[in-house]
Amino acid sequence: MTTNAQLLFNQIPKGEPTPETFKYNTENKIDLEQKLDNGAHIVKIICVSLDPYMRGRMRPAEVKSYSPAFELHKPLTGHGVGVVIRAAADSQYKVGDHVYGMVPYQQFVLIPGQQKVDEESKKFLGPQVGLRVIKNEEGLPWSAYIGAAGMPGKTAFMAWKEIADAKKGEVAFISAGSGPVGQMAIQLAKADGLKVISSAGSDEKVAFLKELGADVAFNCKLQSTSHKTDDAKKIFAEHGPIDVNWVNVGGKSFEEELEFMNMHGRLIGGWISAYNGESYGVRNLFQFVAKRLMMRGFIVGDFEASLAVLQQNINAKYVDDFYATIPKKLAFGDLKFKECKYDGLESAPKAFLEMLAGKQSGGFGKVFIQVAADDSH
Ligand SMILES: NC(=O)c1ccc[n+]([C@@H]2O[C@H](COP(=O)([O-])OP(=O)(O)OC[C@H]3O[C@@H](n4cnc5c(N)ncnc54)[C@H](OP(=O)(O)O)[C@@H]3O)[C@@H](O)[C@H]2O)c1
Repeated sequence: MTTNAQLLFNQIPKGEPTPETFKYNTENKIDLEQKLDNGAHIVKIICVSLDPYMRGRMRPAEVKSYSPAFELHKPLTGHGVGVVIRAAADSQYKVGDHVYGMVPYQQFVLIPGQQKVDEESKKFLGPQVGLRVIKNEEGLPWSAYIGAAGMPGKTAFMAWKEIADAKKGEVAFISAGSGPVGQMAIQLAKADGLKVISSAGSDEKVAFLKELGADVAFNCKLQSTSHKTDDAKKIFAEHGPIDVNWVNVGGKSFEEELEFMNMHGRLIGGWISAYNGESYGVRNLFQFVAKRLMMRGFIVGDFEASLAVLQQNINAKYVDDFYATIPKKLAFGDLKFKECKYDGLESAPKAFLEMLAGKQSGGFGKVFIQVAADDSH
């Protein structure tokens, strides 16, 4: 038997998660030599993603949302990349295949051929039911496939195409621009000929936003009368109005942004400012009427593809386009991406807390956990 360390969901947090929200369990074992049949296979996990939406899954099971709650005392689940190290003769995968999809956060995963997925998970995972083989002809680090070439990159790519209705010369505002969604959104907006204003929470992050092509970048943590140069209102007044608002942060800053939206503006996004608690009550929603604004909810899972989804007529129109274009652009440097690596599942509690707070000790960018070496087979 081999140790199969896991990251367990240990406690439902009240407000901000704490180290006790998680438990690193080294007592779990797996028989890597076991007989496999009925299409089963064993995947060795290489890297897993830590994403803000996972905070929403740390809730009591009876509270419903678009994503299923984590099960207490079971491994967290999320996007990961692994390599198939054993496969039954009738498995759809072969040894050496690298696969991407939703996985439990542990070192090895035994996947039965007929993967059982409950109805709620199906709604959330949609197309992600089952793992996608990634050929990686581009030679990207595997972590890229859970970041810029994975779920967050797809979020930016698909929501931009589906909702932004971007026109050359317009102005986009992208908050939390140094995160994986923000990074991609900035570059897509620039590629479409928009002027980009972006914000992030430190001067280093702001410098990176400029490297990505943002025309105007400011430190959102310096918004006070004593830091007039980074006052968002002044920046929007000078460089706006905003036609496309990529609302990553939301909350009180959203209220400010609404004042500076252009007529017929479009809004896309997340609401990370409320993930640990109550949402700020935005007071100027009448701006939607006055300026004929359009904001549309978007969940990336609705747009990812698989045969199952296509059969259900769910919209999968962007996926082939994404995989055909984005990994190559990342590999050639036509699109930049920055990652923030933490080593080993035991580092995940610290990494998750730092990611949510925007205070990653290992740099910034897409936060992920390297579970095993990239070249492991
Ligand atoms: N709908 C979908 O399908 C979908 C999919 C993926 C992501 N999303 C959403 O898109 C957004 C960005 O995702 P991401 O993966 O790229 O995450 P991310 O930017 O890495 O998110 C973490 C960052 O958000 C900022 N932040 C956290 N709390 C904040 C607060 N209270 N006020 C202001 N900023 C705060 C921090 O950056 P700073 O230090 O720069 O402030 C932090 O580093 C999130 O809201 C996420 O939930 C939606």
